[in-house]
Amino acid sequence: MILASVGSAVGLGNVWRFPMEAGRHGGAAFILVYLVFVLILALPVMCSEFVIGRAGKANAADSFKHLMPGTRWPLVGYMGVLAGFLIFSFYVVVAAWTLFYTEECLRGALLADRDFGLFFSDFSSSAWHPILFVAIFMAANTAIVASGVQKGIERVSRWMMPLLFLIIVMLAGFSMTLPGASAGFRFLLNPDFSRLTVDVVLSAMGQAFFSLSVGIGCLATYASYFKQDVALMRSSLIICLLDTMVAVASGMVIFPVVFSIGAQVDAGPGLVFITLPHVFNAVLGATPVVNYLFSSFFYILLLVAALTSAISMHEMVTALLHEKSRLTRPQAAVVVALCAMVCAAACSLSFGPWRNITLFGMGFFDLFDFVTAKFMMPIGGLCFSVFAAWVMKRQFVERELCGERPSRSAVWAMTVICLLMRYVAPLCLVGVFFYEMWNWSSQ
Ligand code: PHE
Repeated sequence: MILASVGSAVGLGNVWRFPMEAGRHGGAAFILVYLVFVLILALPVMCSEFVIGRAGKANAADSFKHLMPGTRWPLVGYMGVLAGFLIFSFYVVVAAWTLFYTEECLRGALLADRDFGLFFSDFSSSAWHPILFVAIFMAANTAIVASGVQKGIERVSRWMMPLLFLIIVMLAGFSMTLPGASAGFRFLLNPDFSRLTVDVVLSAMGQAFFSLSVGIGCLATYASYFKQDVALMRSSLIICLLDTMVAVASGMVIFPVVFSIGAQVDAGPGLVFITLPHVFNAVLGATPVVNYLFSSFFYILLLVAALTSAISMHEMVTALLHEKSRLTRPQAAVVVALCAMVCAAACSLSFGPWRNITLFGMGFFDLFDFVTAKFMMPIGGLCFSVFAAWVMKRQFVERELCGERPSRSAVWAMTVICLLMRYVAPLCLVGVFFYEMWNWSSQ
């Protein structure tokens, strides 16, 4: 189940969203703030979700109900499921782009050095083509969730995830050799604090929550299957570390290329899809067979990473619907998929024919992303950490975090994490939340 949590965390959030956000918000300064938020917000929230999920032995809503009957705490779980559904709806659009690139790569269409900016925008802005790929991805996802073979997928990802990481590190090595790559490294490593606006800070926080899948009860649901001997604090630390390593390594692949080919660093959602094929062609282009095998392998691994994350969202919504209705599991999985398909189509169309349909100045895709990463996940995270740190018994939480007989260093780390859970994370999140409301109302 730890593996399942890593599978949920490591996904497009690391390889696609992290470089996109870092590119939009000035690089190194954003990354620094992001790392701080992983440590002081995402990590304590993850520990809280794990403690609540394992103690409540159910999905987040029912865990709250078991631990605190007769209160409104379960609402946090329901809001999390709604957030999970919304994230799922736009996540599958990016997963569909990944699927398209995998297919094109296998067909050999990405081998020629062409204008990949145009290639990406042609595809993403067309009406039906991306939706078709969303439907294929959704069908595969639904088949897995409905038949309950997630375990099999997770076993597969046990060796695929390290391979993905290895390939990303190799690609980062390749990127380094490109002419003009040093400007990319400067962008990544040399913080320009004058660019550190409040929007950058909020985005870094949203990215930390998104990338680690925390704040919506997804990990609490997984934790309900954890055995008692799993040390929750150690697992959380490992997950945060692995996830962050994949994200930072992805940045090291993307930015040297961006500067090398003179692409727009704030190209938005297309950034990774425009730059990656260039890395493959620029470095491996001279040996087409190697280029073909290497790039195909990469896209397949990325697709699996996207799948394991998408499954975790689909699963939590399906599980709740199955429990609260008379639908069987497969039926519930299909109903969720159909509803998500409608929202995903709207998100996909917002890159093309529906470009001009906006709400609060954003298209559907951006709106779903904004509402979940900057509002719902942080609010959920706040509730999880307040519940674990202030409502549950302290000794119980401490025992859950690092077992019966913790070593001295574990006790030390636990003390820090408890402080983060009790004071730092809630205060920081309340501050951010008020700022957001104030900013929003003054616009
Ligand atoms: N963390 C996942 C990723 O990085 C996305 C995700 C968010 C998955 C929320 C589940 C819940 O791709």
